[in-house]
Amino acid sequence: MNQSVAMSLSEQWKVNGYSFQEELFQPHEMTKMLRISENVWQQWLEASAENGQAGNPNAHCMRHLNHPGYFKNNDADFITLMNFIADERILQFAEEILEAPPVFRTSTFWFEPEEGIVDGNWHRDIQFQEPDEQVQKDYIAQHHKTTGIQIQIALIETEDNEYVPGSHLRWDTPEEYHIRLADEQQHNKSNDMPGALRVHQNPGDALAFDPAGLHRGRYHSNIKRRTMMLTYNTAEAYRFDYFSDQPWLFSEKHMELLPTSTQNFFKRYQDLYRNDVMKQNK
Ligand SMILES: [Fe+2]
Repeated sequence: MNQSVAMSLSEQWKVNGYSFQEELFQPHEMTKMLRISENVWQQWLEASAENGQAGNPNAHCMRHLNHPGYFKNNDADFITLMNFIADERILQFAEEILEAPPVFRTSTFWFEPEEGIVDGNWHRDIQFQEPDEQVQKDYIAQHHKTTGIQIQIALIETEDNEYVPGSHLRWDTPEEYHIRLADEQQHNKSNDMPGALRVHQNPGDALAFDPAGLHRGRYHSNIKRRTMMLTYNTAEAYRFDYFSDQPWLFSEKHMELLPTSTQNFFKRYQDLYRNDVMKQNK
């Protein structure tokens, strides 16, 4: 970890496949975001603002915390959350890795499931889009350009992410392959991954990793988890789907509550997605 701290965020990203910034936010800011996130989460468990259905207490995360349906008669918390998403500190973090202005994609809150203890499965995200191993190999070999970033901000202390530093640059070693893919993936929850680093985050520490590298989460009901994840893309990596389909970000009534700098940040989103959102939600 010390070696990473000495490198810039983009150097860490290029060499290790992850970037870690200690104390990106102050503890008092995290106390506030924790209260706001837990409030949204409790409402979601009762009824999602997106579809009115009760959220699953055994899920690992919920999306779209910034839906105004969670902030009825509570403009102050809505403004705090939207300002947080557009905060210069996190946008600079994203921009340093993306090497382009970040555009908002989605917000996610990670929490521990009510029941069960599951060690996550080791994977590279590319395997879910491309089951063909040769295609995965070619993708890794191309030194792909980073066009999206998921920044995890610990609201309380956490160690729920593991990463194999450097694995974003190369194909699996035989030991790694055995754990990730061999025998129909029956070993993929192994706790013996060579070189695995369990990342420790204090409240306010930010972590992002290249999902092309080997990684996994941990889902233990007896280990409290409260992590806010904010996802940004470059405009070039424009992708309209469940995550970016947020018609509420076009609500003038809500956008007018926000300071100009925050509004300007969300204008990037609006300019990119306006046509698709209008078509999808007319
Ligand atoms: Fe993943």
